[in-house]
Amino acid sequence: MTHISEREYELPNAVIGDLLKTALEDKSVISLGPGEPDFDLPAPLVEYIKEIAGDVNHYSPVGGRRDLKEAIVKKLKRENKIETNPDNVIVTSGSQEALLMATACSLDVSEQVIIPNPSFLGYLPTFELFNAFPIALELKEEDNWNINPDELKKLVDRKKTKAILINTPANPTGNVLSKKLLEEIADVAIDNDLYIFSDEAYEQLTYGKKHHSIASLNGLKNHAVTFQTFSKGYAMCGFRLGYAVGPSPLIKAMEKIHVYTTVSAPTISQKLGVKALSMKKEYTTNMVKEYDRRRKFLVKGLNQLGLETINPNGAFYTFSNIKHLADDSFKFSFDMLRKAKVAVVPGREFGRYGEGYIRCSYATDYKNIEEALRRMDKFISKIQK
Ligand SMILES: Cc1ncc(COP(=O)(O)O)c(C=O)c1O
Repeated sequence: MTHISEREYELPNAVIGDLLKTALEDKSVISLGPGEPDFDLPAPLVEYIKEIAGDVNHYSPVGGRRDLKEAIVKKLKRENKIETNPDNVIVTSGSQEALLMATACSLDVSEQVIIPNPSFLGYLPTFELFNAFPIALELKEEDNWNINPDELKKLVDRKKTKAILINTPANPTGNVLSKKLLEEIADVAIDNDLYIFSDEAYEQLTYGKKHHSIASLNGLKNHAVTFQTFSKGYAMCGFRLGYAVGPSPLIKAMEKIHVYTTVSAPTISQKLGVKALSMKKEYTTNMVKEYDRRRKFLVKGLNQLGLETINPNGAFYTFSNIKHLADDSFKFSFDMLRKAKVAVVPGREFGRYGEGYIRCSYATDYKNIEEALRRMDKFISKIQK
């Protein structure tokens, strides 16, 4: 019989996969599930692919092409106020690969990493894959989904904790951490000599609140590892291009194991990355404008349906309270999928403190959001009776 490892067996199944598969197969379903931009690749990048197609069949250097790393260093200075150099940058196949390698290189078996809960469903399995020990830091609706620094301090075990993970703007809550809060988190990391893994996948997608990179703060040179990506801001998910910037010993260690993961991010993607960083900002700002229009409409609509929803300042998600309607967010989401033909993601998918909520994505057409709200209205009216 084929043997499946204990490690694999213990990993949670992402229910989101089943849900979105059903949503894709049934054309009558409107999906508010997507975790990726619905926009086309920006036109200059489409043109550039044609130009370079004949010259991208070779491996790129392990850890990334020099020209891309140099462009990333300039971008980090310009947009994130992070001063660094190409040796402190590693280019990866999406930022998810960077997080996986950073975990492999910084956390020994049973060492602890504190992660916000609810948070992106990719975190927990990544840490568990390496037998590190994730500790949940509860985020609360009444704190606007912010990290509570006092709660964070209580979770630090000076012998076992190695890292704190933060995500701003956040998936699934859309929350953007303020500079003051980042400073408080930075103090905890410095006082306890911890890494901070800062996932900034949605850094470009903010609405009226500025994104700050924790690595730009004083004293974090040896602590902060910043993860960024081309997936969201440039609608380049399928090109699998991300990177990490951090302390050079850790980045060197990640380069060492890159040989055993993907060797290098695709050469075509890396060349496109250089081009993307040289483009006018308007390609991203136009997407942000459209997301913002949908965000306002969706947040208003959900609140009108009685699903309390905090106005998110970033990413492309809303996170709504359904506690008055259901105890089980999975059951609620599957019922709504079946009966109202609207797909949303159950909050428990993002951790136990996500129970009682649903995530809706507005990375879909405005008209779809209008129709989804109409259907949700009918569905909710029926279950309230
Ligand atoms: C918070 C967060 N971090 C990281 C990722 C992974 O992005 P990438 O495409 O760069 O691997 C995602 C993808 O949805 C995400 O939501």
